[in-house]
Amino acid sequence: MNDSIPGGAHPRISGYPYYSGRSDNLLQYYSTIDRLRAEASFYWNGDDESGFWIFTDPEAVAEAYKTPDFFSSASVIATDPNPDYKWIPIMSDGREHRQWRRLMAPVFAARRLAAMEDVVRGHARRIIDEFADAGECDIRRDFGNIFPTVIFLELMGLPVEHAERFMKWEHAILNTPASQDPDRAIAIGAMNEVTAYMAEVLEYRRTNPGDDLISMAIGWEIDGKPISHEDLLNFCLLMLIGGLDTVQAQLTWALYHLATHPSDRARIVADPELIPTAVEEILRVYTIVQVARKATRDQDFHGCPVKAGQMVLLPLAVLCRDAGAFAEPTEVTIDRPLSEQTAYAFGAGPHRCIGLDLARRELRIALEEWHRRIPEYRIPDDSNVIEYVGAQITLPSLPLAWAV
Ligand code: HEM
Repeated sequence: MNDSIPGGAHPRISGYPYYSGRSDNLLQYYSTIDRLRAEASFYWNGDDESGFWIFTDPEAVAEAYKTPDFFSSASVIATDPNPDYKWIPIMSDGREHRQWRRLMAPVFAARRLAAMEDVVRGHARRIIDEFADAGECDIRRDFGNIFPTVIFLELMGLPVEHAERFMKWEHAILNTPASQDPDRAIAIGAMNEVTAYMAEVLEYRRTNPGDDLISMAIGWEIDGKPISHEDLLNFCLLMLIGGLDTVQAQLTWALYHLATHPSDRARIVADPELIPTAVEEILRVYTIVQVARKATRDQDFHGCPVKAGQMVLLPLAVLCRDAGAFAEPTEVTIDRPLSEQTAYAFGAGPHRCIGLDLARRELRIALEEWHRRIPEYRIPDDSNVIEYVGAQITLPSLPLAWAV
């Protein structure tokens, strides 16, 4: 090994699944995480300085998320240490970040979300009604993609008829493999289109305010000053990035799990009260997010010689599938007691997902409505079911069939 390149004397891999596109096998990402975690606590991924660290020790991952003065969110993509964009609030730190969180909290307050229950359920029913009598669908195409998109549009006060274009943008930004977009031109092009769209909406809402997130954000202040137009656009962009692909991916994994585990499915059909804990377990076992941080200083961290400016990838699956914390960590146990660690799919530390209650509500309602209408279903042909590693770990397509 060459000590002149970072990680030279330390465990090293190349080809870790990260924006790598299609996997060879379904669930390969998760088996890779389980294997790496069992073999070492950290790795250098890559052959030279352009690589990044991957932490696979649960304690180190949790602590890194909770130590933002060392592990900055100035970049959250391991292959992009010096981004020329800023997603707000996810790429802000310290005082600035705390102010954003305070401003956003009322938007995601329990009372406000509870008031959305009927709207969310109404969309779930309407969408399922469109294909239920056909006896088949592609869950990702026909339900998983569209459902969180219309809820996002409701939250933002945007027309639900614009769902198609949002799904296209979101896919380009988050799910274009590095091989097809090495300089991220496709992703950045889509981000520019989103910001152009949002700029028009902001303009309109300044003179026609409504009861929506964009109208609220126009009145917000940071450090006693109104938020700049540019920062408002970056905030809108992050809401799109944070709220769409995540729920889409998790909903598809949920239906995948329940289609392939009939006894779990039978239990939630017989007792829908189990759905909230089933959702938590599915989020835990099929954890989809792996964000990175940028080191602010040189420091040995849990044995890893991190240097200032290096990127560190912190896969949440390491925490969620931790054999030290869970009996049978890779199994979904739909009534497993909840703990801080079962909820690590939503992150840890100051950037922990602010939309987690909305996400849980969407997933719960989707599963309630689906199983009320379609209690028995199967994957008729799994030859096209592939795992895809973009910004999240997803199933881009999942055909399901049922008797009508
Ligand atoms: C199951 C679905 C979801 C999952 C698994 C998920 C996961 C996460 C994770 C892991 C983070 C932390 C990222 C980091 O530490 O850098 C995060 C942050 C965030 N999420 Fe979610 N999320 C989901 C749904 C949503 C929804 C529905 C929204 C809003 C509509 C949302 C909005 C956000 C925002 C704004 C942040 C940034 C918080 C901050 O920087 O303080 N998320 N999410």
